[in-house]
Amino acid sequence: MRVLGIETSCDETGIALVDTVGDATPLLLAQALYSQVDMHAAYGGVVPELASRDHIRRVLPLTREVLNAAGSDLASIDVVAYTRGPGLAGALLVGAGVACSLAAALGKPALGIHHLEGHLLSPFLSADPPTFPFVALLVSGGHTQLLEVTGVGEYGLLGDTIDDAAGEAFDKSAKLLGLGYPGGPALARLAEFGDPNAYTLPRPLLQRDSLDFSFAGLKTAVRTHALRFNSATCEQPRADLAASTQEAIVDVLVRKSIAALARTGLTRLVVAGGVGANALLRSRLSAECAKRQARVCYPELALCTDNGAMIALAAAMRLQRGIAALSTDYAFDVLPRWPLTVSRPAAAAAA
Ligand code: KG4
Ligand code: ZN
Repeated sequence: MRVLGIETSCDETGIALVDTVGDATPLLLAQALYSQVDMHAAYGGVVPELASRDHIRRVLPLTREVLNAAGSDLASIDVVAYTRGPGLAGALLVGAGVACSLAAALGKPALGIHHLEGHLLSPFLSADPPTFPFVALLVSGGHTQLLEVTGVGEYGLLGDTIDDAAGEAFDKSAKLLGLGYPGGPALARLAEFGDPNAYTLPRPLLQRDSLDFSFAGLKTAVRTHALRFNSATCEQPRADLAASTQEAIVDVLVRKSIAALARTGLTRLVVAGGVGANALLRSRLSAECAKRQARVCYPELALCTDNGAMIALAAAMRLQRGIAALSTDYAFDVLPRWPLTVSRPAAAAAA
């Protein structure tokens, strides 16, 4: 079964084609991605209207590119999957509209996919895929969650952020340090030249027996320190503050992830979402998991941030298990604020 995936929830147009044979992990045949980063950089962040217009320009040429690269054609597509939410409403509508029109023209079903489920399952496309059950650390731009994952669609919420997400903490701190958009990778680059112990920054909720996160206080502390020096001329304090900020965020993410493994008794950790590309986070998690004979799986670096492959993959994994809400009337909606459906496992409560 061949599934075309279309991702347009924010500032990346991602298209991919996956194939399934029986119950085996779906195979990625081809993918293409166009990042709008350069266009939005001039504005210091994503401009939703520009994002929508650019998705319109890219989505069909990228689809053609993917089909050509896979040596495939439109007739071979069995299901057209698209990101239904969460994300920017206008941007989501472009992907949903194109997906449902294409599916209608082909006489094949369309399937709306949750963007975060795509991130969560993306490590299944890596060379070293996980197996269920596992603890997932989901760290995208707008979400920071620890989940107990027992299967596709079976997500138990262990911890959530009570204010900013880790990605937001990276992005907002980067802005305060005068770094461009996107902030996370820029802050990580500057941090390479700084001392991670130069500034003592808050690590909220770390002492409490909780798997929840809070990063708003960190941003306030970074602002207070950043105001004390001139970002344009004080290169070393700036790099030191970047390194200390990254250290604080990574420290909290690692300690809570390890606590989640202990709380659930699971020995597999999966990291997904854009912040999962952070090199310090990866090396710390790998080291801490190794100490505990736990296994940690990451998506391929190229699949950490938004892409079409994770949408095609999530659709294919749902179809394999018979839990996909296929549409053949091609009426569609998008859900810009769609929470991932989660349960509250017993392990979510403090031991
Ligand atoms: O998952 P994603 O691509 O988009 C959402 O679904 O939100 O995540 C984007 C987030 C941004 O906050 C970005 O700054 C962060 O991931 N990010 C990073 C790195 N690469 C991307 N944060 C820290 N270090 C990185 N290397
Ligand atoms: Zn994302």
